[in-house]
Amino acid sequence: MKNTVLTFQQNKKDGIKSSMLTAYDYSTAKLMDEAGVTAILVGDSLGNVMLGYEDTLSVTMEDMIHHGAAVARGAKNAMVVVDMPFMSYQTSVYDALVNAGRLMKEARANAVKIEGGEEVCPQIKAITDAGIPVMAHIGLTPQSINAFGGFKVQGRTEQRAVKLVKDALAVQEAGAFAVTLECVPSKLAAYITSILDIPTIGIGAGAECDGQVLVYQDLLGMFSDFTPKFVKKYADLGTIMRGAFEAYIEEINSGAFPEAKHGYEIADEIMEKVKASFE
Ligand code: KIV
Repeated sequence: MKNTVLTFQQNKKDGIKSSMLTAYDYSTAKLMDEAGVTAILVGDSLGNVMLGYEDTLSVTMEDMIHHGAAVARGAKNAMVVVDMPFMSYQTSVYDALVNAGRLMKEARANAVKIEGGEEVCPQIKAITDAGIPVMAHIGLTPQSINAFGGFKVQGRTEQRAVKLVKDALAVQEAGAFAVTLECVPSKLAAYITSILDIPTIGIGAGAECDGQVLVYQDLLGMFSDFTPKFVKKYADLGTIMRGAFEAYIEEINSGAFPEAKHGYEIADEIMEKVKASFE
């Protein structure tokens, strides 16, 4: 059965943790779906891990639609949440509504995710009023990396911690069905989780959140440009993949690949006739 906003709500009520992973393509989404993940996030982290940008600012609506649609085709049960990219919603409530609508219609998303707290509440309200579920995202919001001056833990001072709590309450009030907490001290995230009715999904926000999300290339050891402290590597696919690529190259050079069994047959008499026609 397809997971929905109700799954997230029910999980929080029942004390069941929700799981979310990023994906950007059909095959990976299908594997995650088969594994039973609650939701798949088509994150704008695709700018880093798929497109090789140093941040997420250059990611476009077309990128999100292209990758979102591929993931949606692979996700039978997992809810598909697609990130709204930089400047697709900050500019106006109207832009936010139009672009959220495009992600639903063209990428077949089940929900959209927006970075920001109180300042984006008008957008969250307008989008949810249009019947589109919104996941909020507060704490370290990578689209504001230039304003933060780098990838830093958020909410460590009293003033900033209070601001984060206010942001969490505001996005809930505006209609968000869940909120991602990124790089937030564990005790602060636990407090926010305890006072919100909507679920919190943590990434670098401790174990008390209602769910967790990770970028899959981090979890599988496929991305080495930088590895945040909150990442746990569940496999070292990077090493396995590099080894397989090296073996492939080596076998082409040595003639070990391809073998006869990897080729296709043609009748000898047809081959004779082909050759004869060129003699
Ligand atoms: O883009 C992304 O992958 C994200 C997660 C890090 C939460 O927003």
